[in-house]
Amino acid sequence: MSGVPASSNALEQRIVAQLDQFRRDGVYKSFNYLESPQAPRVRMEGRGQVIILSSNNYLGLSDDPVVMAAGKAGIDDFGAGTASVRFICGTFTIHRDLEAACARLVGTAAALSFVSCWNANEALPATVLTDRDIVLSDQLNHASIIDAMRLAKAIAKCETGVFKHGDYADLDAKLAAASDRQVKLVVSDGVFSMEGSIVNLPALLDVCRKHGALLWLDDSHATGVLGQRGRGTAEHFGLHGQVDIITSTLGKALGGAAGGFVAGSSALCDYLMQRARPQLFTNALPATVAASALAAIEVLETEPERVTMLRENTHYFRQGLLSLGFRPLPGDTPIVPVILGETAAAIRMSELLLEEGVFVTGFGFPVVPQGQARVRCQISAGHTREDLDQALAAFSRVGRRLELI
Ligand SMILES: Cc1ncc(COP(=O)(O)O)c(C=O)c1O
Repeated sequence: MSGVPASSNALEQRIVAQLDQFRRDGVYKSFNYLESPQAPRVRMEGRGQVIILSSNNYLGLSDDPVVMAAGKAGIDDFGAGTASVRFICGTFTIHRDLEAACARLVGTAAALSFVSCWNANEALPATVLTDRDIVLSDQLNHASIIDAMRLAKAIAKCETGVFKHGDYADLDAKLAAASDRQVKLVVSDGVFSMEGSIVNLPALLDVCRKHGALLWLDDSHATGVLGQRGRGTAEHFGLHGQVDIITSTLGKALGGAAGGFVAGSSALCDYLMQRARPQLFTNALPATVAASALAAIEVLETEPERVTMLRENTHYFRQGLLSLGFRPLPGDTPIVPVILGETAAAIRMSELLLEEGVFVTGFGFPVVPQGQARVRCQISAGHTREDLDQALAAFSRVGRRLELI
């Protein structure tokens, strides 16, 4: 071995000490290894079959035969890798087809794919804004948007700001104070992932329109989930096609592999294609993933009953929890958080549930506010009533053991 010995390497010493601290604080994450496809029931290494209640596989498409076959055909048609950055030699026809499908789904003129929604979010404001502009973000937006704001400030030198969660009077005041800014961009999650709550899109759009601001919605937990046909938050409110810019992921309801996209005007997508650093300096989405994601969108378009099933399953599970005596956060999305208070309580509950064959993750501070640790259940259209009943029985046993119900 060469290099600075670990004992005198300050970085190594620091991170080892921090890892020890994570373990002492009970916040060290252990990983559970799966030996089968992501599905309502999976085979977990060392445990056998468990029911998953914490995946973003909202429509049950991760192991759908049609979606998987499309991925396999993708490798036959386009090979294993893109082998370069897209503008140099990595664009395949499947990318173009996927992007047309994304735009069609969310109701914009165009879309551009990225290797993740994280990348899409980071690309957007840093590429299109300038020092004459401002971007304002909801306080509870996803971490990728928080980092996107930091990048925009550093790279585009635009003004950035945060408005109180869902408080559009606060946003109104901040936009009024920014009237001299040439471009005013407002960003919000469509569905807030830790609460499972839906943005008040009509009110948000009103404030944006009043100030001539553009609205950017991150619909990662809403695409495939909200609206009659799973077209997202805008469809849910009857506002499909009225949001200026939508970013979303291919890594949740749409097959769950990876990838994300920016959807908006043709000029916006063209400009990002020309100038966004996460387009210009990194390989394109693998063709296999583009192919399976495209198939997932087509399944969603032809089988909207999956969205209905997701809604019915969520209602069934939520009612089941309520009748057991739990108090899940109210809401209309398949994210059903059960608040437990301290982080250790949430971790303990998720450990006991796993012993009962139900995999659901506990979240504590700093992911959620202090004292609001929770287990966050996520329901899938793929869950059967038997899966949900078995999960509810486990909640009942663990809840009684922990004296929660
Ligand atoms: C609101 C939101 N935006 C972006 C992302 C990132 O998506 P991806 O996994 O495609 O990077 C997530 C994933 O958790 C998310 O919840």
